[in-house]
Amino acid sequence: DKGTYPFYMLKEVDEQPNVMRKLSQEYLSETGEPVIDQKLLDDMQAADRLYIIGAGTSYHAGLVGKRLFESLTQKPTEVHISSEFAYEQPILSKKPFFIFLSQSGETADSREVLVNVNSAGYKSLTLTNVQNSTLSREATYTLLLHAGPEIAVASTKAYTAQIALEAILAKALGECDNQIVAQNFDIRQQLGLVATGMQALVDEKGMIEKVAKESFMNTPNAFYIGRGLDWTVSLESALKLKEISYVQAEGFASGELKHGTIALIEEGTPVVGIITQERTAGLTRSNLQETMARGAKIITISTEKLSKPGDTIVLPDIDEHLTPLLSVVPAQLLAYYTSLNKGLDVDRPRNLAKSVTVE
Ligand code: M6R
Repeated sequence: DKGTYPFYMLKEVDEQPNVMRKLSQEYLSETGEPVIDQKLLDDMQAADRLYIIGAGTSYHAGLVGKRLFESLTQKPTEVHISSEFAYEQPILSKKPFFIFLSQSGETADSREVLVNVNSAGYKSLTLTNVQNSTLSREATYTLLLHAGPEIAVASTKAYTAQIALEAILAKALGECDNQIVAQNFDIRQQLGLVATGMQALVDEKGMIEKVAKESFMNTPNAFYIGRGLDWTVSLESALKLKEISYVQAEGFASGELKHGTIALIEEGTPVVGIITQERTAGLTRSNLQETMARGAKIITISTEKLSKPGDTIVLPDIDEHLTPLLSVVPAQLLAYYTSLNKGLDVDRPRNLAKSVTVE
């Protein structure tokens, strides 16, 4: 039931702070330590490489997961689009461990990979929102996202839940290996800050709607740019805009833009820069300047620490590992309000189904 909300998507965006709190309750002890099945951790620890598999938004959550696992556990981690992996399998390491990301647990492309993984006898884990879903039943282990039903076709709270759960898992695994970064990562405190930060963002809807109206309503195309983790959020942000508001959008590694794609920038083309990583903030800003010099209309999503006067949307500061959990929220809302103000069916965009059960 969507209650007083005009669309499920908005309700689901608003639920995200509570999903973060729920995941803390489900997977962290009173002292803030991860509570994860030891057998699962042993199997992951025994692996020499993690392979994350997903489609669409779940693939994008995997891109964030790769950075989390590599930083907190030092375990090499690859992320693959399931429909590609199924038919062009890369050379696997000696002891692979597979992590399937799927909100529905029913995506045929991902299931195809799991069938192959099972017949090769490899261990796997599914992170899903749906108990007893196909991917959950067929994987060795399951961790539930506890996000509550996600009805809107555009995935929102499943993305943030997947990332938060990957962070908890990475912390747990890193601690098994006495990794200092994992030991120092106060996941409980950080998820608390994330929940508060998300709440502040969803309380700023009026401002975000204004940006959507000014920048996205009449444009045929738009860009999201960033580096590293911010790039991965650019991909997800662009997908949201394409999917529900039919604006042709591209998420781009900001340094790569000048190697060709900048030719697409015209007077008024919206370019959203995501700036949450200290190491690359200055570089992304100068890439934004390059587009501005060619007439682009610049919008920024930056963390407070890295913000500059005149920035459009400023996020509260949190640990840099987790900034996707905040930076994606304004992008979800920008897509939502563009779709809404165009008079489109936000929850049921054309040509799409909630779960894609054909390959
Ligand atoms: O249920 P899944 O997470 O496996 O679904 C994967 C994609 O079909 C899904 O994330 C899709 O990209 C969303 N509609 C994007 O908002």
